[in-house]
Amino acid sequence: MKRVLSGMRPTGKLHLGHWVGALENWLKLQEKYECFYAIVDWHALTTDYDRTEKIRENIIEIASDWLAAGLDPNRSTIFLQSHVKQHAELHLLLSMITPLGWLLRVPTYKEQMRQLSDRDLHTYGFLGYPVLQTADIIVYKAELVPVGEDQKFHIELAREIVRRFNHFYGKVFPEPKEILTPVPKILGIDGRKMSKSYGNAIFMDDSPEELKKKIFPMVTDTRRKRRTDPGQPEDCPVWTLHKAFTPEEKRRELYEGCTKAKIGCLDCKKVLIQRLTEKFQDFREKKEYYKSKKGDVIDIIIEGSKKATEEAEKTLEEVREVMGVGISPGRI
Ligand code: TRP
Ligand code: SF4
Repeated sequence: MKRVLSGMRPTGKLHLGHWVGALENWLKLQEKYECFYAIVDWHALTTDYDRTEKIRENIIEIASDWLAAGLDPNRSTIFLQSHVKQHAELHLLLSMITPLGWLLRVPTYKEQMRQLSDRDLHTYGFLGYPVLQTADIIVYKAELVPVGEDQKFHIELAREIVRRFNHFYGKVFPEPKEILTPVPKILGIDGRKMSKSYGNAIFMDDSPEELKKKIFPMVTDTRRKRRTDPGQPEDCPVWTLHKAFTPEEKRRELYEGCTKAKIGCLDCKKVLIQRLTEKFQDFREKKEYYKSKKGDVIDIIIEGSKKATEEAEKTLEEVREVMGVGISPGRI
């Protein structure tokens, strides 16, 4: 059975963008493959090294979100990156063979620096972000990596590092391939890309009241100043959510209602609120449950990390051997 690996940084609870862009797909993959899902807390340090106080609680939060969404620890290995030291060892070994030029040319490197201009990201760790990501993947010899479009270059780099490694030391690693999740772009309540840092996110565990409070005032197509003005759903942030969550038949009705000014935006939003309330009802209940069982969540992460460590160690034994690292008693 092929292996799948993916990860998320523990930056806080998950919003609808995470659901559509990743989690929904992760759930399907666990039916077909042997899946490893990592909470990559070391990666969180690459940008947030000077504000680490929330990382621990975020780890529990994200694990609770995964479990509530239906990631099954009996099927998938749910684990914490920093508990599997082999990621760090492999990262170090890969850093020996990774040309600096490759890292400096990764488009996300300069882009992130620009976007997070309030942080000093001229660090060794930040430049090495994709090398650590490569280690995350290949330490399990994972062949499939479900990620968003923005991660494409990182997986490409992972393949290049694998080729270089295999060229020097023999074929140890398979080349990982991305599974690009076709992400319908989800906009936040202010019309910008949904993101926790913009403060415009609808979270998976938002209560029906919170959904109302966020969605009713949401910006819509600016052409609909009055109820009698026809609108264009394709220019409306609310519509991005309908596209992701409302069944096609109902959506066609709303589309017509909007373009022919037969319904008001409030009607349209009510349908969405109803839909999201139902869709995440079960999730909210399970999330409540896990919130009251933090000890169990921690146990699941620790257990998963042990399992991951066993698998990762097998790979590292092979890597040390082919690279000539370390000695052992009785071996000349
Ligand atoms: N860089 C990924 C992101 O920001 C997170 C990540 C870390 C990851 N290691 C990974 C994703 C390995 C896939 C595989 O989304
Ligand atoms: Fe957007 Fe719906 Fe209003 Fe049309 S009716 S502009 S899709 S909220």
